[in-house]
Amino acid sequence: MRFKDQVVIVTGAAYGIGRATALAFAKEGAILVVTDYNQKKLAETVELAKALGATIRSYVFDIRDEAKIDAMVADAMDAFGKIDVLVNNAGVGQFNPFPTTSPDEWDTIMGINGRAMYLMCRAVVPHMLDVDKGAIVNITSIMGEFAGIAQSIYNASKGAAKMLTQGIAKDLGSTGVRCNAVAPGMIQTGLTENMFADATQKAWFEERIPMGRVGRPEDIANAVLFLASEDASYITGATLKVDGGMTCAMN
Ligand SMILES: NC(=O)c1ccc[n+]([C@@H]2O[C@H](COP(=O)([O-])OP(=O)(O)OC[C@H]3O[C@@H](n4cnc5c(N)ncnc54)[C@H](O)[C@@H]3O)[C@@H](O)[C@H]2O)c1
Repeated sequence: MRFKDQVVIVTGAAYGIGRATALAFAKEGAILVVTDYNQKKLAETVELAKALGATIRSYVFDIRDEAKIDAMVADAMDAFGKIDVLVNNAGVGQFNPFPTTSPDEWDTIMGINGRAMYLMCRAVVPHMLDVDKGAIVNITSIMGEFAGIAQSIYNASKGAAKMLTQGIAKDLGSTGVRCNAVAPGMIQTGLTENMFADATQKAWFEERIPMGRVGRPEDIANAVLFLASEDASYITGATLKVDGGMTCAMN
């Protein structure tokens, strides 16, 4: 019960990595505040967390909505009086070669993967600073470290998320608030289900992953919990790649 009675916010908790992360915190005794714009799937996450005995509140809105972010954080503070952990997970992918991208696509991807992450941190950090304690874990991507095929805007958004993490860590370094990132490799979720439905494509990736398999959402959740925990008390500004070794060597 590493997170007993700690208040944990998870964005994008309806599905994939966000749901697995919320449930992993639930198993460790956390009080959960979850959000997503997929009402039906978020309700499933809530039921699964309750079955694990968790206290949980859910908020359905588009993570780009600044007023709704502020209202959720204010409501969580009213209800529980503190926020111990923030996991910025909500994100969208891109499979579009650069020549056919558009400024609208830039605004959408950067708005969700970049600006909304900033807005969430901006809303939560003052409450963490008030008690000089807190941990933020941002979900970036190995695509924030290396360029992928047809992912130029996604690359930019995840690079921005990584450097936002480092900038926050630098500015808050002398406080009790830490900020780190987890950079997943190829994980089986809603984001990748079309790609992995094609056995040839899945095999192509598996050949390039030293551990020989694509990741599970729980593989990422485990890393998030580590960085959010006291076991990581001397770690801030780090990006932990969780990719089965995919980026440790040239392929
Ligand atoms: N799956 C992978 O291989 C992989 C690899 C690297 C990074 N990631 C990152 O992991 C995070 C989670 O992705 P996932 O793989 O679990 O995908 P997913 O599609 O299964 O889950 C993403 C969640 O975010 C929510 N979301 C998206 N846009 C939103 C918005 N505007 N407002 C509110 N909620 C929104 C979705 O409804 C969904 O529940 C993302 O930031 C993604 O970029 C995933």
